[in-house]
Amino acid sequence: MDLDLQHKTVFVTGASSGIGLAAVELFAKEGCFVIAGYRSNAEAAEALISKIRAGSGDGMAVHIDLESPKSIRECVAAIVERTGSIYSVIFNAGANKLTAFDEIQEEEWDSIMAVNLKGPFFLMQAIAPHITPGGSAVFVSSIAGQMGAPGHVHYAVSKGGIISLTKSAAKRYASNIRVNCVAPGVTLTPMGENAVKDADPDYAKRMLLSRRFAEPAEVAKVIVFLASPAASFIYGATIDVNGGRELR
Ligand SMILES: NC(=O)c1ccc[n+]([C@@H]2O[C@H](COP(=O)([O-])OP(=O)(O)OC[C@H]3O[C@@H](n4cnc5c(N)ncnc54)[C@H](OP(=O)(O)O)[C@@H]3O)[C@@H](O)[C@H]2O)c1
Repeated sequence: MDLDLQHKTVFVTGASSGIGLAAVELFAKEGCFVIAGYRSNAEAAEALISKIRAGSGDGMAVHIDLESPKSIRECVAAIVERTGSIYSVIFNAGANKLTAFDEIQEEEWDSIMAVNLKGPFFLMQAIAPHITPGGSAVFVSSIAGQMGAPGHVHYAVSKGGIISLTKSAAKRYASNIRVNCVAPGVTLTPMGENAVKDADPDYAKRMLLSRRFAEPAEVAKVIVFLASPAASFIYGATIDVNGGRELR
């Protein structure tokens, strides 16, 4: 199937690791000009872009800290200066902290909310005018946002909010931008591995129809599809990529 992504510009936040890094690699293989957003790991994002250039693709790395409105504005300005406009934005960056429900303090709550929900909202608001008509946006939620998670309730609430933000943004931008979302289950990235480090070693076998956790590329493929013109009739949807977690 032709995803029709050739020569389109795509911006992925959280591209220095895990799912975002895998998504940038896949977009580059589809012929996109890729913009890899990083917060602290500039080296990983620059190495990713160098690898893509060596393979005849192209792109750039850009700094963005979703906790900082100033950084969001500067990032959008840097992208617009370099590319003029973009075809798609992928709101992939996220932060998680395993803290018991009763122990979460205000500062930690605010920080998780800023990275996972407030930042993506203000980035959407700032970047939407620079998305070409017919373009797309993909948010990244989590199964925690659908099922609840008392061991990281701030994260779960922020990811539930992302599903709601997806629907509101889909309605707001319907005439120009298709907005959708993916909701992964545990995925083998630094964040995912940390989330299950103390879990029962048979968790995947007991709880998932897949009987294993996801590889980053398995989530990234769904992101790439949703972003592409091949998903032209999908609006405001949240696609589960969780190995059948709710069915067991
Ligand atoms: N892995 C899972 O099991 C799982 C399950 C469900 C949903 N998800 C969601 O999938 C997305 C990707 O997660 P992942 O597992 O690939 O995570 P990861 O490997 O830990 O990578 C997280 C990425 O987010 C970036 N980031 C963190 N804080 C940021 C901030 N303040 N501003 C901008 N970027 C920031 C990091 O950048 P630097 O490293 O450069 O700082 C990094 O690139 C997240 O939204 C996550 O919630 C993951």
